[in-house]
Amino acid sequence: MVEKNEGKLNTQSELSMKSAGYYSKKTIGAKFAIDSSLHLVVDAISKITKSKHLRFADFGSADGGTSQELWYNLIRFVRMRGDQRPIEIIYTDLASNDFSTLFKTMQGMGENADLAYQKEFKNVYVHACGTGFHRQLVASGTLSLAFSATAMHYISEKPCQILNHVHMVGASKLERQKFERQALNDWESILRARANELQPGGRFICINFGIDENGRYLGNTGGNSMFDSFNRHWRNHLDNGIITKEEFVSATFPQHYRTIEEFSRPFLGHHCLAKEIGLKLNKIFTKLTKCPYREQFENNKETVAPAEFAREFIPTIRSWSETIFRSALTGRTDPQIDNIIESFYTNYENEVAQNPSEHSMDYIHIVMEIERI
Ligand SMILES: C[S@@+](CC[C@H](N)C(=O)[O-])C[C@H]1O[C@@H](n2cnc3c(N)ncnc32)[C@H](O)[C@@H]1O
Repeated sequence: MVEKNEGKLNTQSELSMKSAGYYSKKTIGAKFAIDSSLHLVVDAISKITKSKHLRFADFGSADGGTSQELWYNLIRFVRMRGDQRPIEIIYTDLASNDFSTLFKTMQGMGENADLAYQKEFKNVYVHACGTGFHRQLVASGTLSLAFSATAMHYISEKPCQILNHVHMVGASKLERQKFERQALNDWESILRARANELQPGGRFICINFGIDENGRYLGNTGGNSMFDSFNRHWRNHLDNGIITKEEFVSATFPQHYRTIEEFSRPFLGHHCLAKEIGLKLNKIFTKLTKCPYREQFENNKETVAPAEFAREFIPTIRSWSETIFRSALTGRTDPQIDNIIESFYTNYENEVAQNPSEHSMDYIHIVMEIERI
C-alpha cells in the first residue's frame, strides 16, 4: 500500500523508472524531445559570463541516458568557445532512482561511451542528489542552469485516488480539481526552490508533459488514447477477478498534466509569485514529438509485421508506467505480481498488434524558459 500522509497519498515509492538502463534504452522519444532543446541551454549558458565556475543541474534525470547527449553537446560548446571554467553537473532524482547506472554511464562504462563527457573534457565534475525537486537542492545563488525534462508532471503526493480511471485525464470534475490544486502548489514550490538556487541571469529550462491548445497530451494525439487503454485493460483485470477493486483504484498515476494557463499562473498579475521571488517567464510554447516507434513502423510497413511493432512499442510504455501498476499490487507475492503485470501488458500488446494504426505515443511538452532576475 502507498503510505498515507495527512490524508494525502505519498507517492515516492511508486515513481521510479525501470532500472538497469532499461528506461533510457526504451525511451528514445524523450531523448529526441531533450535534444531539441539544445538551443535553449546553449543560449542560457552564453549569458553566464561573470561567475568563476558553471554549475548545471538536471532535475528528475532518471538514469541520465536520455539527456547525456544534450549535456555532451553543451559542454563541448562551452569548451569550443575557449571557456575553460570548471563545470559541475548535478543529477537529481528520487532516492529510489538507479543512480548506479547513471554513474556508470557518465564514466563511459555502459552504452554510448563516446558521450562520456566527464572523460573527454577537463575540469568537469559529476554529482548526484537523491532529494525530490520540490525542495531547494543546492546553495542559494550558485546554479548557472537548471534543466528538467519530462519529470515535473509527477506531483509530490496524490490528493486522492481516482475511482474510475487510472489518470487525471479521465478523472471526475472534483477529482481533477484536487489534482490541479496539488499541481499548482507543487509548481509554486518548484519555482521558489529554483529561484533560490539560480544565480541572477541564470535560467531554468523546463520541458514538461502537459495538455496543449488542442487538448492533446502524451499518447492522445489522434486515434486511441493510451491512458484509456491502460484503464480498459486494468478494468478488464478487475472484471475478470484478477485484481481487487482496491488494487484497481491504487493504480492512480501520481501525475498532473498542466496546461499553458496553469504553468503561467504564478507569472501573471502585479502581485504574482514570480515577481516576489525574482523570476521571469521568457518563453512558453507547446511542442509535439512524434512517436519514434510508430514512425519507424509507418516507414517500414512492407517488412515489419504489426505484431513486431507491438513488441517494440509496449516496452516504451512499460519503462515508466510499470512501477505504478506493480505498486498497486503490494501485498501479493512476487510471482503473483509478475503474472498480473505480464498479462496486463500482453493484453495491451495484442490490442496494438490487431490495430496498429490506432496506437502511438506522441509526446506533448510545454517548453519554458524561465530567467532569474
Ligand atoms: C519520465 S522520467 C524522465 C527522465 C528524464 N528526465 C527524461 O526526460 O528522459 C521522470 C523522472 O522524474 C523523477 N521524479 C519524479 N518525481 C520526482 C521528484 N519529486 N524529485 C525528483 N525526481 C522526481 C522520476 O523518478 C523519474 O526518474
